[in-house]
Formats: sequence, structure tokens, C-alpha cells
Amino acid sequence: MCGIMGYVGPQEAGPILVDGLRRLEYRGYDSAGIAVTNGAISVRKAQGKIANLEALIASDPPSGSIGIGHTRWATHGAPTDANAHPHTDPSGEFVVVHNGIIENFQSLKAELTSGGSEFVSETDSEILAHLIAREYDGDLVEAVRRTVALSEGAYAMVVMSRREPRKIVAVRKISPLVVGLGDGETFLASDIPAVLHHTRDFLIIEDDELVVVTEEGAVIESISGEAVEREVVHIDWDAEQAEKGGFDTFMLKEIHEQPAVITETLASRLDQNGKVWLEDVGFDDAYAAAIDRVWITACGTAFHAGLIGQEIFRRVLRLPANVEYAHELRYADPIIGANDLTIAISQSGETADTLAAARLAVDSGSRMLSITNVVGSTLSRYADDILYTRAGPEISVASTKAYMAMLIAQYLLALRLGAARGTVDAELAGRVAHGLHLLPAAIEEVLEREAPVIAAAESIVDASDVYFIGRGLDYAIAMEGSLKLKELSYLHSEAMPAGELKHGTLALITDGVPVVVLLTQRAVYDKVISAVQEVKARGGRIIAVAYDSDTEIADHADMVLRIPDMEDLLAPVAAVVPLQLLAYHVARLRGHDIDQPRNLAKSVTVE
Ligand code: AGP
Repeated sequence: MCGIMGYVGPQEAGPILVDGLRRLEYRGYDSAGIAVTNGAISVRKAQGKIANLEALIASDPPSGSIGIGHTRWATHGAPTDANAHPHTDPSGEFVVVHNGIIENFQSLKAELTSGGSEFVSETDSEILAHLIAREYDGDLVEAVRRTVALSEGAYAMVVMSRREPRKIVAVRKISPLVVGLGDGETFLASDIPAVLHHTRDFLIIEDDELVVVTEEGAVIESISGEAVEREVVHIDWDAEQAEKGGFDTFMLKEIHEQPAVITETLASRLDQNGKVWLEDVGFDDAYAAAIDRVWITACGTAFHAGLIGQEIFRRVLRLPANVEYAHELRYADPIIGANDLTIAISQSGETADTLAAARLAVDSGSRMLSITNVVGSTLSRYADDILYTRAGPEISVASTKAYMAMLIAQYLLALRLGAARGTVDAELAGRVAHGLHLLPAAIEEVLEREAPVIAAAESIVDASDVYFIGRGLDYAIAMEGSLKLKELSYLHSEAMPAGELKHGTLALITDGVPVVVLLTQRAVYDKVISAVQEVKARGGRIIAVAYDSDTEIADHADMVLRIPDMEDLLAPVAAVVPLQLLAYHVARLRGHDIDQPRNLAKSVTVE
């Protein structure tokens, strides 16, 4: 998704903007640019990686201490130099960067064209610069306001003009925007990590707000002009947390952070007896006891985390639960009742489909609980209750530690609901709590067992298809393992319940085809072994994920990735780790860009 940067202060803006854009690279982009004002506005922009922009700047450095920058992820128009942001009006006096989509851009463009405007790009964003110039009559804020009134859609827009040279005006309509408050300098960004090394004090801009940024700070108003008081949020994230540390990729670093993430997510929320305190979850026991059904909605990896929640709520709490893809739920006309609890899961808290599904649930009268990693994200603001996952900033496009924190959050929620509904007794609560507290050490152990994973990666690096199977909770992990492999290695992969294999996919199992099998659910172990035998009989190659104590699997599998013994209910948390590492190593062996897989964006803020 597009990234936004802005700077006003005493320093040269160019290097600060480019540095910020680099820190936003994880959002995914295909071109980048900056505009700097120093009397006149200088624009530098280039398709491709930020290195191309840097080369341009090096050959012709723009000068000025106020500027805006952008990384673009193409929606309207190909990723070209001309379509890269910033965009100016024909006079070059007004310049805009924009994140999101102007839905009525065709009609606005037609209107501007009939008035004589000529456009140099194919983007919807360029019309904003034209409109602002047209609407300007001596007050930039008012020109922006009138432009917003004309433009439909969900976006964030940042504007600068040589007519009012010491300010940046920005608007948020859904797409995220934060202001970083420095000492005599102010920053603007689409995400906190972009400027965390400059300041820890932030103003989170909300939907339908306009902010005027100067070196003295920022003034927030509603789009309609009412003054807004906003508390400064102090962010405690360690600046180190947003860097790669000693690892060669953010993904590997984030995989290794998982034990700490579990500890953080549990901290001060769970005692040894399984009693749970969730600080931003406001419902009482009477509410929890009266829930008819739980809807879980999410996309991608967050959906796979929801599959685990669904299974736990159903199996352990005996509570009807459905996990639904947010993009399906929003158009499915679901029967969501007033006594239903909707849980929307999103690492970023900005995924457009998940936000829409969450809104649908709220409009249907359901209470809405969000599980998200980003404080102040849009999803958190829609929610009645929030369960923050405390995974810290996740930079790699492929989600790992945020996923793990989503699992932990759901175990906590299950304990909380189970206690209120009387479906989790003291013995089970104590057992699960004990197991949860042991998980960080267990994951550390799994992380140390990298050699067999590398061997497994070497064995599938040239495969054309890889299958993942499991039952129950293992099926949910199979889904996540398969997605990780796809997005990082670009190998074709599919996951399915182990029992489903014989209903069709078995036709694709021939000599040497790799099948990754999860075997952590003791109640269905023999059933999964039957599927393993079906694969072996067709010459397929088995890579198993199994407990240390499982001696039988060695007779069936070609390779075994071991995890320490634990409660089956908690095993997904450990079993996913070898699969994350497997995907990582296959991608590494294939020479791929691991942190930014092709065609993917960290935060999918368009439908
Ligand atoms: C994860 O590896 C993905 N790249 C992707 O599936 C992601 O989980 C999905 O887009 C949802 O994102 P969210 O958690 O920020 O809502």
C-alpha cells in the first residue's frame, strides 16, 4: 500500500523524506517520489525501488526544509515515472501525495478536462492537485476542504503549496495518517515506524479530519471545520524493534521474536490458575454468558488465526462460532444477531475488507471486539472491545509474529469467555494457563531446530506443487503453512483437511510430490496416518511435523520436523514455527526478496 511522509522544520527535507520512505518500504510499493519547497516546488520521482529515486536526487538535489514524499502501490495507471507521486497542478504551485482511491475520479477528470485541464498521468490522484489549484482563493485549508467535498472515496491526502510555504495540509478519510511531534520540527507519516527514530510523541489523525502541520506542531480540525483536541500518544516501541537487528531479513527477525511476543501478549493478563484480565475488553460475565454465536472475520493470515479461534470456541467452549473471510462476509447478507459477538482480526487494523465486515457487524447490532496489533488503528476505533496483540511493529510483508500473537489473544479470550459461561473449569483453565506460560521456552526450542527445516527446504526447493494436510487445529496450521510457502517461495501450494485428500487431490500425488503433514492432534492421529499411507502408496514424499514423543511417524515419513510435547490445544502455536521457517528457507534458496514478496503489500487498504 502507498506510504506517506511529510516534514517541516529546520533541516533539509529531502534526506528525511527519503529515509522515512525507506522505513515504509514494507508496505509494498512500485514507485517513489518527493517534493520539496524552497520558494519553488521541486519534484523528484521514479518508478521502481527507492534506489532509483535516490539516484535522481543525487544527480539533481532539491533544496528546502519542507517537503512531502510518497511510495506508490499502483491502483489507477501503471507503475511509471509519470504516475508516481507527488503530482502538481499545471502551474506547479500546488503539490499533492495521496493514498487510497478517488471513486468519482472519472467524472471529476471529465469535468476538469472540459474546463481545459490537461493531465500528465493516468492517476486519480493528479486531479486532486488540479482541483485544489482551482478552488484556491487565498486559503489553502479552505481549498483542500472544498476539494475533499468534491472527492468521494477512502483516502489520505497531503498537500503543499508555494503560496503558503511553511505548512502542510493533510486530510484523512479512512487511510491512516499520523503526526510526529519533534522539537521545532514536525513529521507526517502513514505509519509510526517511519518517524519513530525522530520522535516518540504522536497525534493519530482520525477519519474525516484535517491537520495543518507546521514546525511548531499540528492543529487538527474536523473536515467541516470544528476544532479537535487530540491527546499526544507516547509510543514505547524500542527504535531497535523497527530495525532488522542481527538478522538478514525482517521476517527471520520477527520469527525469532515470537517467544518474546507470547510473553508480552500474556503479560499482566493471565495468572497461573487461568484467570484472565483483558484491559480493553469491557463486557461483563452476564454478557459473555448470553452470547449466542461468535463470528470471526479477517483476511489472509489473520483468517487462518481465526480458524484456530473457531475451533477452540466450538470444541472447548461449546459455543457456536464461524470464521468468515471479511471480503465474503461483507457481501453475504449474514444473519448476525444482537446477541452475537463479532471478532475482527487484523494485524494492521487497516485492512479495508476487514473494516467493512466489522462495520457490517456493528450495524447489525452485534458487539464488536477487535484483535489488532496497531494502537489507534481504524479497526480499534470501530470496536466496542479491543484486544491488542503487543507484537510490536511487523515489517515483513509475510506475517509471522503478529499471527502468533493473534493465536495467544484468542486463547486468552477463550479462557475469559469459558470462565463466564462455565464451560472451562478450574482444572482446564489451570492446565491451559500453565501450557501458555511454557510456550515461549517451547518455541525457543523449535527455533533451535533449524537444520532439519533447512534439509526439508532443500528437498522441496524445485518442486512444482506442495500439499499441506492436517485435521482440526492441524488443518488450520496447514492453511497457514501453505500460504507462507506460496507468498514467499512462489511455489504452488494447497492445504486441505487430511480426510479430503482422497476426494480428489490424491489424483495429483505422484512420485516425489511433497506433502507436509501435521500430526499434533492425538485424537485423530490414526486418521491422519491413513492419509499419509494414501500418499506413500502413490510415491508421495512426506514431511511430517510431529511431537518429540511420536516414535511411530519415523516409520511413515521421509523427514520429520519435531516440536516439544504439549497440550494438543496449544500445539498450533509451536507447529506453525517449522512451517514459517520452511517457507523462509525455500524462498532464500530460490533467491527471493523475502521481506517484500512480489505483488504483495503489507497493508491492503483497498477493497
Ligand atoms: C500475511 O502473510 C499476509 N501477507 C496477508 O495475508 C495478511 O495477513 C492479510 O492481508 C491481512 O492483513 P491484516 O492482518 O493487517 O488485516
